[in-house]
Amino acid sequence: MSQERWSAVDGYIAETLLGEDPVLEQALAASVAAGLPAIAVSPAQGKLLQLLVRIHGAESVLELGTLGGYSTIWMARALPPGGRLLSLEVNPAYAEVAGANIAHAGLSDCVEVRVGAALQTLRTLVEQDAGPFDLAFIDADKESTPEYFTLALELVRPGGVIITDNVVRRGAIADAETEDPRAAGMRRFHELLAADRLGAGRVSATTIQTVGSKGYDGFTVALVEEVRSA
Ligand code: SAH
Ligand code: DHB
Ligand code: MG
Repeated sequence: MSQERWSAVDGYIAETLLGEDPVLEQALAASVAAGLPAIAVSPAQGKLLQLLVRIHGAESVLELGTLGGYSTIWMARALPPGGRLLSLEVNPAYAEVAGANIAHAGLSDCVEVRVGAALQTLRTLVEQDAGPFDLAFIDADKESTPEYFTLALELVRPGGVIITDNVVRRGAIADAETEDPRAAGMRRFHELLAADRLGAGRVSATTIQTVGSKGYDGFTVALVEEVRSA
């Protein structure tokens, strides 16, 4: 099956199930115009994130990797009144584009984009006891995903959900000898997810491979268990 076919199906899904969305399309257009890389989640993936926020009834969401705020807008739209989303972005120019897109979507009141390296910001959030968040979406630099997940565990409540993007990397994750540091990061992430590395039964997770307009990749969905063994 070819990339062309996967993209055609993503187009079909967007056309039939998702419909026109001028605000999200404008957010992508403004991101392209500002020179941001075209690496946001696909529309179908954005809708999945939105559905997960809704299904989970999340009122507080933590995002790592804002880019132009595309996934941010998908998720923030699912928040109930009084809900909040905090998104972390290292690149101030990207954060500025995201801020404008979020304002255009009418979401500035419930979304904050915080500029800085996510590792540092996360440590500060933990120190400040800024949680608990109901749901986290990890989508920043792939090499640091294991560290992000470990810190996110300090901020996401028991019963919360942590979703991670780009975990399969065109299949490179299955290659123990991979020289792609991003794929190696995702292998370390999976090793970490193995229950005994985090403390028995602390999270329950699976990874789903995906194809579509963004190529061949995958999402990990992890549930932070309510009952933690000592
Ligand atoms: N979630 C976005 C896409 C994010 S792309 C969407 O789907 O719409 C990855 C983002 O992570 C980029 O904007 C990149 O600048 C950011 N990033 C990379 N390293 C980072 C770091 N150390 N801390 C925070 N953000 C980082
Ligand atoms: C790429 C894709 C992503 O979804 C992301 O978050 C970062 C980078 C990429 O294809 O390079
Ligand atoms: Mg991604």
